[in-house]
Amino acid sequence: MRVALLVNIADNAHHVPFGAPSDILAELDSSKTAESYAAALIERGYEVHGHEGNSHLPGWLDRYQPDICFNVCEGFVGESREAHVPAILEMMGLRYTGPGPLAAAITQDKPTTQRILHYHGIRIPFFQVFESPDDTPRPDLVYPLFVKPAHEGTGMGIRNDSIVHTERRLRDKVAEVIEDYRQPALVEAYIQGKDITCGLVGNGTGDGVHFFPITEVDFSGYPPELEHIYGVQQKIDYADYYKNKCPAPLSAALAAEVRRATLQVFTVTGCRDYARVDFRLTEDDKLYALEINSLPGITPHSDLTLMAQAEGWTHTDLVCSVLDAALKRYGMAQHIPERLWSMTDYG
Ligand SMILES: Nc1ncnc2c1ncn2[C@@H]1O[C@H](COP(=O)(O)OP(=O)(O)OP(=O)(O)O)[C@@H](O)[C@H]1O
Ligand SMILES: [Mg+2]
Repeated sequence: MRVALLVNIADNAHHVPFGAPSDILAELDSSKTAESYAAALIERGYEVHGHEGNSHLPGWLDRYQPDICFNVCEGFVGESREAHVPAILEMMGLRYTGPGPLAAAITQDKPTTQRILHYHGIRIPFFQVFESPDDTPRPDLVYPLFVKPAHEGTGMGIRNDSIVHTERRLRDKVAEVIEDYRQPALVEAYIQGKDITCGLVGNGTGDGVHFFPITEVDFSGYPPELEHIYGVQQKIDYADYYKNKCPAPLSAALAAEVRRATLQVFTVTGCRDYARVDFRLTEDDKLYALEINSLPGITPHSDLTLMAQAEGWTHTDLVCSVLDAALKRYGMAQHIPERLWSMTDYG
């Protein structure tokens, strides 16, 4: 079976604007992680060829004619960047792993996701979108508040000063987010509590979906000056200090609620094959959905990989389970010949 591995590699991103924040490329893959996906697929006997998710992609796909694409492109430019490659694949009538363009665009934009979750009765933090630092805060926005970019991931733009206690700090942080990331700022009620994340692979309900053990971030390993939030410093600068509780020490009832909410978020946002939903859990066991990662990291060190490993899966098992979910969704049987992997880089 011919698998096209589609990735956005940080080294191929030539268009970093002058003065961009240091975490601007944090979501993109390295050649090493791309090779790890290829190695996993090859280990299971797939024929794998890779290509950068860029404007040369349609011509290359036309020539290669894959049976299915393994898409992990985070995109580079724009508020719907994760939707770019799925849109191309949809237009070309190709099969691919992960969300379609609509779900990718919806889940890239946190305010849009939150509106959908709220509509479906899923508990979210109260929020307001600031297009400008001069917007008037709604009177029901109660401090402390949490300020983050409207459509970033990997903790980008999330630091100690994301927690704000005064209108002055709110306006300063909103101004910084808008200027640095060229997008609106999402201002949410700050939910004091534990960071809980739940990942799944599969589709549909019941047997079609496999939940990985729920994880709680353990903040005790980070330097004490860092707030207990899972931002870019924790994810990138202090990545080696990461500790978790997996499975999270939750009662059976609470764990079931987390899994139920995860599947509901996955379903109402139209995600496919795999995802990871991030929550905050308060001391009195109120669960707040923060976001869904429709293209969650599956590098050898990603949260989802660690969850899978906690129940004895290998990285290969995880990568191939995503492909399996997509193959099953398309009603395709698996066929396993062997071949080498190659990466065509058109930068
Ligand atoms: N409203 C909130 N209240 C409290 N903490 C929050 C809130 N929103 C975000 N956080 C903290 O910031 C972290 C990152 O937030 P979020 O998951 O929205 O960002 P992200 O960059 O998209 O993450 P990912 O790396 O999962 O893509 C959360 O795990 C949590 O610790
Ligand atoms: Mg998150």
